[in-house]
Amino acid sequence: MSDRRYITTPIYYVNDKPHIGHAYTTVAADVLARFWRISGRKVLFLTGTDEHATKIPAAAAAAGKSSKEFCDGMAAEFKKAWAALGITHDRFIRTTDPDHIAAVGDILTRLHAAGHIYKGVYEGLYCASCEKFLSESELTPDGLCPDHARAPEKYSQENYFFRLSGFRDRLLELISDASSPDRIEVLPEERRNEIIGKLKVGLDDISISRAATGWGVTLPFDKSQTAYVWVDALINYATGAGWPLSPEKFAEWWPADCHLMAKDILWFHSVIWPAILLGAGFKTPRRVFAHGFFTLDGAKMSKTRGNVIAPSELIERYGVDAARYLLVTLFPFGTDGDVSRTELDRRYNSDLANNAGNLLNRTAAMSEKYFGSVLPAAPMTAGLKEFLSSRMAEYRCAVESVRLHAAASVARDIMDNANRMVQIEAPWALFKEKNPRLITVVNSLFSSINAAAVCLRPFMPSAAAAMWTASGSPIGVDEGAAKVFAGDISALAPGATTARPPALFPRNASPLSRK
Ligand code: MSP
Repeated sequence: MSDRRYITTPIYYVNDKPHIGHAYTTVAADVLARFWRISGRKVLFLTGTDEHATKIPAAAAAAGKSSKEFCDGMAAEFKKAWAALGITHDRFIRTTDPDHIAAVGDILTRLHAAGHIYKGVYEGLYCASCEKFLSESELTPDGLCPDHARAPEKYSQENYFFRLSGFRDRLLELISDASSPDRIEVLPEERRNEIIGKLKVGLDDISISRAATGWGVTLPFDKSQTAYVWVDALINYATGAGWPLSPEKFAEWWPADCHLMAKDILWFHSVIWPAILLGAGFKTPRRVFAHGFFTLDGAKMSKTRGNVIAPSELIERYGVDAARYLLVTLFPFGTDGDVSRTELDRRYNSDLANNAGNLLNRTAAMSEKYFGSVLPAAPMTAGLKEFLSSRMAEYRCAVESVRLHAAASVARDIMDNANRMVQIEAPWALFKEKNPRLITVVNSLFSSINAAAVCLRPFMPSAAAAMWTASGSPIGVDEGAAKVFAGDISALAPGATTARPPALFPRNASPLSRK
């Protein structure tokens, strides 16, 4: 297996400020990126903004700004939100970046030269909020877009078309044949089956340009037209890997290992994007993973409904670490779910304040009280070694297959097991009896805390480091994690002098603001 990983999030539209829907995907990608870095891989992690949407000039005018100024302001909002959430992307790409505009021109020229683009008249219905054409059968009985409850616009123009239909057989093969070396692994499996089903029904060609309005990337072979915003946006993944200006970088990173997004835009990523790549002579992505869509208190989050939560609100209430953890582990990654303030609070208290926080405080207090914080070493028991080894293997497998909730529940299991150990062993009684077993028990508790810290490190970087540091381990948490992943469970042992941990997950009684 290759030692490098190229992972992407969607590039987000700038008509909305960043909300926890965007944060959900971005934090998940960051968890993967951090995990891979810790396990010794080279990572390229790309996120950014999709700025050439048709709505932008009007939104900018309403704000009294030029389109570019408007986008500059919104891109800055996204950058700020990701910095506050501790996102470790290697590049924040904007579709208005010059190297991206070069990439769009280059790839469209290739498609045109290869005969995959032709001129035709497009007549249909267009939803500007989806930025896509809708067929009559997709509309509600009242003729509205089902996602935006708005009437689509009637559209008739001479445009360029991409011969998507010509790629159907190859795409079917790449997506369904697990033995193909160029397989596009679409996950989760149920969504792959949906895509395969749709492909079997057939593929229509798609319109890929519009009459130029002064906003968007001009077609290299017809200056009167601009590229369809989705074609422009998808190409960002090639730009981010270095196409066309840094061919050496591109050779190192292409194809992408994981395009991460929600199910709403899986079709674009698993069908249209690979077809563009095939047409232009590039390799297709190795994996396209679509997670579920979440509602907030049972309703779709939307500006008009006024129930949008900004990532900063979660950070204010729970702190960055817990905000990241809670977001991506609240319901199984891949399925749809609901997020409610009550459930966020409940999980914060149960998983973090009670489970992790208490275990850490109790264990550090034991070391202090029973050993004056100078903990004699004891070898890890065979039972604990076996338990932790199997849990760490399970954890790695969960992260590699993007089952983030399962990865987090390994950490919970390890901590539950340690909390049970305290009850069963009753260290206070061992202390009273001057029983030397106390040394083994406290060592076991610290080793368990360290194992949980390794698992939690990609989710909660600072809290995990603090958990690890409390054990006094002579090595850092990432070095420890790398050793553990390489099979050395003894790297979880505490050091000689343990430390009193900072208050990690204080109970928080004030309600999350309701806007
Ligand atoms: N600009 C396009 C993507 C182009 S990528 C080449 C776009 N942007 S978007 O701003 O609408 O972002 C959609 C993505 O935001 C979803 O696919 C998902 O990653 C994330 N989410 C937004 N709201 C979400 C939820 N309520 N639940 C889960 N993910 C959410 O589409």
